[in-house]
Amino acid sequence: MASGIIFTVAATDGRARTGVLKTPRGEIRTPAFMPVGTAATVKAMLPQSVRATGADILLGNTYHLMLRPGAERIARLGGLHRFMNWDGPILTDSGGFQVMSLAALRRLDEDGVTFASHIDGSRHRLTPERSMEIQRLLGSDIVMAFDECPALPAPEEAVAASMRLSMRWAARSREAFGDRPGHALFGIMQGGVTRELREESAAALRAIGFDGYAIGGLAVGEGQAAMFEVLDYAPGLLPQDRPRYLMGVGKPDDIVGAVARGVDMMDCVLPTRSGRTGQAWTRRGPVNLRNARHAEDPRPLDEACTCPACRGYSRAYLHHVVRAGEMIAGMLLTWHNLHYFQQLMQEMRTAIAAGRFAAWEAEFHRLRAEGDI
Ligand code: GUN
Ligand code: ZN
Repeated sequence: MASGIIFTVAATDGRARTGVLKTPRGEIRTPAFMPVGTAATVKAMLPQSVRATGADILLGNTYHLMLRPGAERIARLGGLHRFMNWDGPILTDSGGFQVMSLAALRRLDEDGVTFASHIDGSRHRLTPERSMEIQRLLGSDIVMAFDECPALPAPEEAVAASMRLSMRWAARSREAFGDRPGHALFGIMQGGVTRELREESAAALRAIGFDGYAIGGLAVGEGQAAMFEVLDYAPGLLPQDRPRYLMGVGKPDDIVGAVARGVDMMDCVLPTRSGRTGQAWTRRGPVNLRNARHAEDPRPLDEACTCPACRGYSRAYLHHVVRAGEMIAGMLLTWHNLHYFQQLMQEMRTAIAAGRFAAWEAEFHRLRAEGDI
């Protein structure tokens, strides 16, 4: 499997790892947090601002971009990087997961899934082959295999059948992706919260062979304790020398727990989405700027943060623009949240490299327990 994407683990500390994933479009320092740019934009942020928060890679979505503006159109316009003015690496999700959570009238069969667009009701079809074609048209650097993911809790038989379908689709994804130097294809482990199913899924993916391996089917309603139980063994089922990507996670304490268990990459809409609803994330946990207690508070959101929201503005100002529904509220809080998430990743990379991750983790939990002051 020729791949222009090379992963190097520089240091491990317990099960936590730090390293670098080298792509022709730049290096991704791991553990990495990938901001979500679903519709060819990280909402409320310019690409250079996202980069300034410390992001090495963005996530894009096959599902949204195939519906609007269309993969062929983006290809004619020079690909997704040119289209959205981001020249760093882009990972694209493959669409199946979003079809199941967003589309109407979904009909699943062995070959793929037919669905109606959540935007205009138009009918579309995704298969492993079409998902690989769309992600190639977009110019994605890291392509995800086409999979299916049941919401939990679900009967074990349903989880098993879905996982086996996803593994057949993973083999078809591998075949359709072919050999594309400089681009990577990641397989996605499924199997819910059942160890035997996770083992079966990991064995199937390893037999096919991928450039990296995602852990899918988590953070879908099972709760943190159940997710961590799976993460206690799931990363160990995957090759040591390949990146492990936990999809759709999460809150800062989810991210820290995942890194402690051997995860290298993550993505989540939380910092961007919650920033647009007035919620900020800090070392001391979540802060709701809508709350009246901030109305005359002259202090910054976080006195230790160096982001534009914390450098230039008071809590009182942020409270005012959130309440007034001003666009700058979403811009400033998104910037702060992305800056905080990237700061968290940098601190973990440094702590793992120095062999003091456990002490760093204890301090993380101690500050969080104090709460916002
Ligand atoms: N995003 C969050 N979870 C998943 C998953 O299981 N599969 C895919 N493709 N995307 C996800
Ligand atoms: Zn800040």
